[in-house]
Amino acid sequence: MSSNVRVLAARSCFDVVDQGMSLSEVLPKAQAQLANPLDKALLQEICFGVMRQLPQLEAVCSQLMTKPLVKQLRPLQFLLYVGIYQLKFMRIPDHAAISETVDAARELKGQSLTKLINAILRSVQRQPALFQFDTAADAVKYNHPGWLINRLRHAYPQQWQQVLAANQQKAPLWLRVNTQRINPTDYAAALTRAGIEYSRPVAELPQAIKLAQAQEVTTLPGYAEGWFSVQDAAAQYAATLLQVNDSQHILDACCAPGGKSCHILELAPRANLTALDKDAKRLTRVEENLARLGLQAKVIAADAAQPDSWWQGQLYDRILLDVPCSATGVIRRHPDIRWLRKNTDIAPLCQLQQQILQQCWRLLAPGGVLLYATCSVLPDENSAQITHFLQHNADARLDPLPQQNAGTVGWQLLPGEQDLDGFYYARLIKLPTQGETT
Ligand SMILES: C[S@@+](CC[C@H](N)C(=O)[O-])C[C@H]1O[C@@H](n2cnc3c(N)ncnc32)[C@H](O)[C@@H]1O
Repeated sequence: MSSNVRVLAARSCFDVVDQGMSLSEVLPKAQAQLANPLDKALLQEICFGVMRQLPQLEAVCSQLMTKPLVKQLRPLQFLLYVGIYQLKFMRIPDHAAISETVDAARELKGQSLTKLINAILRSVQRQPALFQFDTAADAVKYNHPGWLINRLRHAYPQQWQQVLAANQQKAPLWLRVNTQRINPTDYAAALTRAGIEYSRPVAELPQAIKLAQAQEVTTLPGYAEGWFSVQDAAAQYAATLLQVNDSQHILDACCAPGGKSCHILELAPRANLTALDKDAKRLTRVEENLARLGLQAKVIAADAAQPDSWWQGQLYDRILLDVPCSATGVIRRHPDIRWLRKNTDIAPLCQLQQQILQQCWRLLAPGGVLLYATCSVLPDENSAQITHFLQHNADARLDPLPQQNAGTVGWQLLPGEQDLDGFYYARLIKLPTQGETT
């Protein structure tokens, strides 16, 4: 237990990089140890920053140390990154960044290392040239793992550097107005009255509002009343592209934490929606979100790849498959993903995605629509999956989306385009079998 921001930052970064835990798991627990909201925000900023710059922070340290600190001292190695990050990337006065970091070292049982840490931080302060990476390896130059850079370069020969640069940006806070509770224009007026700057830049998504500055969402107008949800506008396309209405049977087969299920019900509140997810714990978030927004669905904990264990025989008019994926489209929002995900994760994920797609396809009524979605930018999880599926399912037809480029299979949004997350959508229609009409 500690209430020192730098100690918590060093431990959190250690937990992610060395222990494989996600920041979304680690950070709230660390923040809970801090009373001051400014300290909570500082902790997040430092952790996100270290995740974004990790290879360069490591490279600077390796120029100043003969070898990294040994195993039991690893949290102190991360404390060094925390200290260097503050010196190079934050507007904290140098003397404060150095002295706070050295104090934190004492708390992390690094009494004998305070001199070394102090000396390293002072070298970084004095030698800006340590941060020259023009001729460094790509992983250091672009602050991403090599395997991911290679995949992106291969997939996007013209845009890979743009994708890597977008991943280094801070993601904006997007809201989705709950149109069952309030009209988006009235909600925008409530924001104006509260002195909160915003824009509504996506004409196709009138309910999407981008805040000029991130802020604690519980303090925004109408949080308790369920007037809005937090959701990137890229994800807000899902419910619209699914073409929902009140008379349909709809399946959201990978629904937790429920962002898209709730949006579907905001557009079609009387639709018969089954919200399914394999992870029962995550489903409690779905229940909470439905309750806060005043919406109703049938919530089931089950495996979408094995419908025989839960499906009761009624075909669906609409199916949303927001399948588990590499999440490589949302690295700007979750900068730790690049260190948690491994190249070897991609093939098993693709296999699971294809299984879910194939199994849920059986549950779709003739004439029905299935929307396949991922927050990935890797074609193996996206266009290649749909191409493969179309080759093996004669009753499936790709319904081109207005947003997709001619000749492409589905719509690939790259991170940063219109200030959105990276996302992929493909809409499939089930053809009636011979002799059947819809
Ligand atoms: C990308 S997230 C879904 C996000 C959600 N659609 C939303 O908008 O809030 C993918 C989800 O798939 C779930 N999942 C993974 N494997 C599954 C399976 N075999 N069957 C059902 N759900 C699965 C995960 O638990 C996770 O909640």
